[in-house]
Amino acid sequence: MPEFHKLAKADEVASGEVKQYQVEGRPVALCNVDGELYALEDVCTHAFAHLSEGGLEGAQIKCPLHGAKFDVKTGEAKSLPAVKAVPTHELKAEDGNVYVALNPKRVKIGGGRGRRR
Ligand code: FES
Repeated sequence: MPEFHKLAKADEVASGEVKQYQVEGRPVALCNVDGELYALEDVCTHAFAHLSEGGLEGAQIKCPLHGAKFDVKTGEAKSLPAVKAVPTHELKAEDGNVYVALNPKRVKIGGGRGRRR
């Protein structure tokens, strides 16, 4: 059973908008696409940027830094320079609130050579 955390009131994010929340120390972008809510890790898979600062274009979220777009429903990267998907989170609605179960997958930034000491 995934563990659900209270995220927001169901009507807190208007249609066409995205907001950032912190859950267990992780940034979560809550997106409202035509009345349907979707949550994904609020971190671009290209370099470091918060996707919620870029905003929604239909069912895609656009990175504010270099313009990569991701499908908010699947997390799939839809345009360069990002190629990796963003983890999406499971949501459930209850009593007028929205709860999120965090995806164990996280965005790894950089992914290059580690530093040796
Ligand atoms: S950091 Fe998002 S496209 Fe480069």
